[in-house]
Amino acid sequence: MGASILDGKMLAEKVRASVAADVKVWTGKGNRPPKLQVVLIGENPASNAYVNAKSKACEDVGIDTHTHTLPDTVSEKELTEVVSHYNNDDATDGILIQLPVPEHIHPLSIIEAIDHRKDVDGFHPMNVGRMSVGQPCFRPCTPAGIVEMLDHYSITTKGKHAVVVGASNIVGSPMGIILSRENSQGKATTTICHKFTKDLTKHTIDADILIVAVGLPGLITGQMVKEGVVVIDVGITRVADHTTEKGYKLTGDCDFDSVAEKAGWITPVPGGVGPMTVAMLMKNTLLAAKRSIYPE
Ligand code: GUN
Repeated sequence: MGASILDGKMLAEKVRASVAADVKVWTGKGNRPPKLQVVLIGENPASNAYVNAKSKACEDVGIDTHTHTLPDTVSEKELTEVVSHYNNDDATDGILIQLPVPEHIHPLSIIEAIDHRKDVDGFHPMNVGRMSVGQPCFRPCTPAGIVEMLDHYSITTKGKHAVVVGASNIVGSPMGIILSRENSQGKATTTICHKFTKDLTKHTIDADILIVAVGLPGLITGQMVKEGVVVIDVGITRVADHTTEKGYKLTGDCDFDSVAEKAGWITPVPGGVGPMTVAMLMKNTLLAAKRSIYPE
């Protein structure tokens, strides 16, 4: 293997330790602890696991958290009322609706119902719009975690060709915005590929930085990348594996062995991007509690 590992697990611990120290200072000044309100709908095993990881991270850094669970039969109106309750609750700093929501609920409508000042996921159009024009905002946790990682390992983006595979609202699209803007974490020439891209390899082979976020295990192989590329694998799919205790293993979007042979840097799955996402959520929740983005 030629690539060095971008150790998201280690870096996430560092970020969390720094948030924990800041929370202590904040509460030491007489403020109540930050509070994250999670809304979890239905019984999706992966969503349950993510929410558990987020709740545990909150406990570790001194952030209060509560999960409001709702059945997957909940109507959009009922869900909006729940969100509205937390919007108006002064003891709630951040609100997170775990996605995906059931099919009968329109995710963008419910995201828009969140008070943008409490939108620690950075999915509300107000935050997306402000990010697009370089205004202070909550940035989505996965892209924010990726730039934190690049920054930590002194991987510069200026003038590089960054290729993002996947154009989701959660990762690919905001990642493209951050990397292409003229700020210290941007200045990259950015290509966004998606399911309609005709010749994916034509783009990936030219990437200096390749970010893959589609949820298709093994989509990217060694033949599709150039020597020395920095690879960020956001994919995290449960693939059946009866040799493991849980009966599955978590698999990224890259065929790790063949890609790592050519890459300069690569994130492992698990232990790469995932822990960074959770750590950045802690950071955003503290920013929300301090009213740092949207002062009162
Ligand atoms: N589902 C998958 N990723 C995310 C995320 O970052 N935030 C929320 N709320 N749901 C998700």
